Parts: sequence; C-alpha cells; structure tokens
Amino acid sequence: MSQSVRPVRGTTVRDDFNDLRAVVHYTKAAHGLGLWESERRLIERFFPDRQAHLLEAGCGAGRVSVALAEAGYTHLHAFDFAEELLAQAQSLAHEREANVTLFHADATRVASHPAVANQRFDGALFMFNGLMQIPLRRNRRRALRQLAALCRPGAPLMFTTHDREDSAEERVLWRLEAARWAKGKQDPILREFGDRYYEEDGVGRTFMHLPVREEILADLKATGWTHTYDEMRRRISPESRKVRDFSDECRFWVASRA
Ligand SMILES: C[S@@+](CC[C@H](N)C(=O)[O-])C[C@H]1O[C@@H](n2cnc3c(N)ncnc32)[C@H](O)[C@@H]1O
Repeated sequence: MSQSVRPVRGTTVRDDFNDLRAVVHYTKAAHGLGLWESERRLIERFFPDRQAHLLEAGCGAGRVSVALAEAGYTHLHAFDFAEELLAQAQSLAHEREANVTLFHADATRVASHPAVANQRFDGALFMFNGLMQIPLRRNRRRALRQLAALCRPGAPLMFTTHDREDSAEERVLWRLEAARWAKGKQDPILREFGDRYYEEDGVGRTFMHLPVREEILADLKATGWTHTYDEMRRRISPESRKVRDFSDECRFWVASRA
C-alpha cells in the first residue's frame, strides 16, 4: 500500500532544527566559527553603529548574535523557533557574558511577541538562509512584513539566499526539475518550484527554497523593503575552508525599511 507523503510545513522545519544532529552542528559553529569574514565586512558596512537596536531572526545556537555582542554591539534581541537551538544560544550567551535578549518566536508571527511588540529596531538580520527555510513564498513574505513592522523607516535588513542559477551545472539540474514539475512528477514533499529537502551526514534534514534574484526583488518590494545591495559571497571575501565547509556559496542581500 502506498503511504501518503506530507508536504513540508513550518513544523517539519522546526522539528528538523530541533533534531540532535542539527543542534550539534549549529552549536559547534556558534562556539568555534563565529562570524564569517563576508558577514563581518557587511555588518561593519551596513550596521556601523554599535549602539543600534538590532533584531536577529533565526539566531539558531547564537553564532551571529553572540559574535555581535563580543564585537561591542550593546542592544541585541534575537529569536528562533527551534527550542533546542535557542537553549544552546542562551547557554553560549551566558558562558560568554554576551548581553543578548533571546526569546522564542516564529518569524511569521514575531511582531506581536511581548519581547518586541513595542520596539522599533534600527536594523534586522536573518542570516545563513533562515528566511529561505520557511516553506511557501506567502509565508516568507509574511516574515518579511513582520520584520518590517518591527523596524523604523530606513532600517537595514540583511539576509542570505542560495541562488538557484549561480552555476551552469545548477541551471541544467533546475531545468530537469522544471520538466518534472511541468509533468506533476516532482517530489510530493516539496511545496513550490525551487524547494529542496535533503539529508546530509552530521546535519540532518534540511528544507530550503532556492530563489532566483527577481523573486527576492519582488518579495522585498511587496513587503515594505527597498532593495539596497546584493552580492555573491565569493565577491565579498574568499572564505576560509572552515566557513566553506559549513556553508556553500550564497548571495547576501541588504534592504532598507521603506
Ligand atoms: C541555517 S540555520 C542558521 C542559524 C544561525 N543564524 C547561524 O547562522 O548559525 C537557520 C535558522 O533559522 C531558524 N528558522 C527557520 N524558520 C524560522 C522561523 N519561521 N522562525 C524563527 N526561526 C526560524 C531555524 O530554526 C535555524 O535556527
């Protein structure tokens, strides 16, 4: 008898990030890797004010927020919807005496959370593809709107995506995938063209939507953000082997709150 396949949902993604393999993977990076050189350069450029009130979405085990606190940023809020990762972020912040207000929230609903509901942030970050790990474009747009609601006009938002069409090889693979979608033969667990759901040793299962550039430009425009900057990571900094092992090539985006 064939078993029905349940399409990936937000709860699937949360469960995958709460899985021990993912927790160990992201906790190791938070303790040992810290900011990538590309992140450090762009944060320095777009978030120069150490006193600014910053909000980090999808903080995971605290890799970015704790590094920001150690770099002298004094007003940091950060949240994640995976309880196990958030607990690791709390423990790392405590251990490093990093002053970060950490709280549990879903990016698609965060604007009404009591920890932030009355705040207007000077900037927001959703680093290392967290935004693209939200299934369905309408939900990613919801998250972008929620972050816009929490930021003052002009505030920068930084995030990353994995491009669908960065290399010739990928373009061929996605053409094959498009043919599968056209025939309705795609993996039924996927929600939209551009989605991937895969398993890696030592990381566990990962859902990710891989967009094309025009898609993100349209999403920003539709959700209260003005595109400021985007660039592939390799053109910002040649990263160390450790960083490249942790994360494939990606595109950095910065938008400002309209
Ligand atoms: C690839 S991990 C990156 C973690 C951390 N920012 C880092 O760079 O190490 C993506 C993070 O986004 C979080 N995330 C995904 N969807 C989310 C949502 N809807 N609300 C809050 N966090 C979310 C995941 O739980 C995970 O911690």
